[in-house]
Amino acid sequence: MIKKSKIIVTGGLGFIGSHTVAELHAQGFEVIIVDDLSNSSINVLNGLENITKTNLIFEKMDLKNKSLVKKLFTKYHDVSGVIHFAASKAVGESVTDPLKYYENNLITLINLLKEINSLKTKISFIFSSSCTVYGQAKKLPINEDEKIKQAESPYGNTKQICEEIIQDTCKTSKNLKAISLRYFNPIGAHPSNEIGELPIGKPQNLVPFITQTAIGKHKELTVFGNDYPTIDGTCVRDYIHVVDLAKAHIQSIKRLIENKTVSNYDFFNVGTGKGSSVLEVITSFEKVSNIKLNYKIGPRRNGDITEAYADTQKANNVLDWKSELSLDQAILSAWNWEKKIQNI
Ligand code: WQD
Repeated sequence: MIKKSKIIVTGGLGFIGSHTVAELHAQGFEVIIVDDLSNSSINVLNGLENITKTNLIFEKMDLKNKSLVKKLFTKYHDVSGVIHFAASKAVGESVTDPLKYYENNLITLINLLKEINSLKTKISFIFSSSCTVYGQAKKLPINEDEKIKQAESPYGNTKQICEEIIQDTCKTSKNLKAISLRYFNPIGAHPSNEIGELPIGKPQNLVPFITQTAIGKHKELTVFGNDYPTIDGTCVRDYIHVVDLAKAHIQSIKRLIENKTVSNYDFFNVGTGKGSSVLEVITSFEKVSNIKLNYKIGPRRNGDITEAYADTQKANNVLDWKSELSLDQAILSAWNWEKKIQNI
């Protein structure tokens, strides 16, 4: 019975986590939000309560603490599933502080899986992974048969290792079934404008840097290179609206709870299937905002791959999920959110 199934969402006050909480609630699930607030704000809980019009269950806790994880599952002994977002996710920071990434991203997962394994009840587990596991794919669009490459950053390596830990645990576990979702580039904000992306400090990612430049927080955007072998020389990515991405998690957890899977472990690429260059994203922003963006072309950024966009057939067919929102809609939602948080 799906209705009222209880789901723990770790990192539930983060960007993708909060949008997934909103979708879970909309589809009748009962959500327990777990977050240590190390990379998110308690204000997101208010935004979610404005969207859901209910007092949501929130547990502030550090999943690196084994005994707290045990207490969590004792308190919520009747959960049907866990969607695990909680992790450090800044590629650049992972290069300068690798041990923070290996400790945070691996220990939290291992604590969760060990506790789940000790339970008698069946648990459906969704893991937040990333297309970064492919590096620069040989074949485009990228499907799930693409070989996993040597990670280009400790962050990417933790995603690869976590997938392997989950897969191996599912092989012997009596009660765990899991799906890893390999995200392409999540962007945008909830249509209510109550939640969205809240980068801490200077954003690394393209879209929040565009909206912050347009709002006046930065003088100009630097386009990291226009000499790539692409349509206009700038890098191509698959930018997916965060609400579409959230819905892929709902389809995945439903598939596991309803016992529709043959194997105990599977993984899916989650994108729109369409690539957009940096200049095309800028053009989209200027169109939807009616603002001329101030930008210049600069040198390439270390570690950037040339092109990545998803072959979404497996997710479309197996998860019965397809992205529905366009690049323009995603960019406009990001702009509306930027104006909201800057009180404009
Ligand atoms: C996109 C394009 C940049 C900023 C990263 C992580 C990935 C995932 C999503 C977590 C690139 C260009 C960017 C700027 C620019 N994160 N750019 N000027 O690097 O594709 O993916 O975020 O899971 O794991 O690797 O996203 O938004 O940083 O960059 O020209 O100021 O925009 O060079 O081509 P990326 P991004």
